[in-house]
Amino acid sequence: MDPEHRVDTLISRAQLEARVLELGREIARDYQARELVLVSVLKGSFMFCADLARAIDLPLAIEFLGLKSYGDSQVTSGVVQITSDLSRPVAGKDLLIVEDIVDTGYTMAYLRKNLATRGPRSVKLCALLHKPARARVQTAIDYLGFTIEDVFVVGYGLDWGERYRNLPYLGAVVMGDGSAP
Ligand code: IMP
Ligand code: MG
Repeated sequence: MDPEHRVDTLISRAQLEARVLELGREIARDYQARELVLVSVLKGSFMFCADLARAIDLPLAIEFLGLKSYGDSQVTSGVVQITSDLSRPVAGKDLLIVEDIVDTGYTMAYLRKNLATRGPRSVKLCALLHKPARARVQTAIDYLGFTIEDVFVVGYGLDWGERYRNLPYLGAVVMGDGSAP
């Protein structure tokens, strides 16, 4: 069983919906007449990507990519592994990585470099969340949903040991003694 904890609402469902619509409009404006491919990073971005895709009024393709970083589940080590790769070549395409959260930045630094070797026309990043307090490497976030404090976030696709991905809002996990997990 999970240790004693609670989940406090951090960003409501209505706030998420409104921000995702804004991001979608901005992206649609920027990518007109381009060959846009959304690259959804699994598993955390599945819900965000599903909503974002519906908010982008343009023809587009969607690809999924599984990434795993070694080390314990809450702290990225910087060593990243692709567990499931794109289903098609992306040479000449405009890639927009869709990620749940940029924390240390290691994962996105790795993925940007990896995708760049495949000859795309462009690679940009759309992240729902950014925790600048924990940044270790700089990665440009071209489209950002929300900047947040250094709390452990769950919901809307993000998990704590695989739990809470299905919450329709974003919450912060708070342990019984008031600390973060
Ligand atoms: P980083 O930027 O390489 O440190 O790693 C980002 C990844 O760590 C994200 O894609 C998430 O999968 C995971 N992660 C980081 N912070 C959180 C959090 O607060 N809640 C849930 N997962 C997180
Ligand atoms: Mg992730």
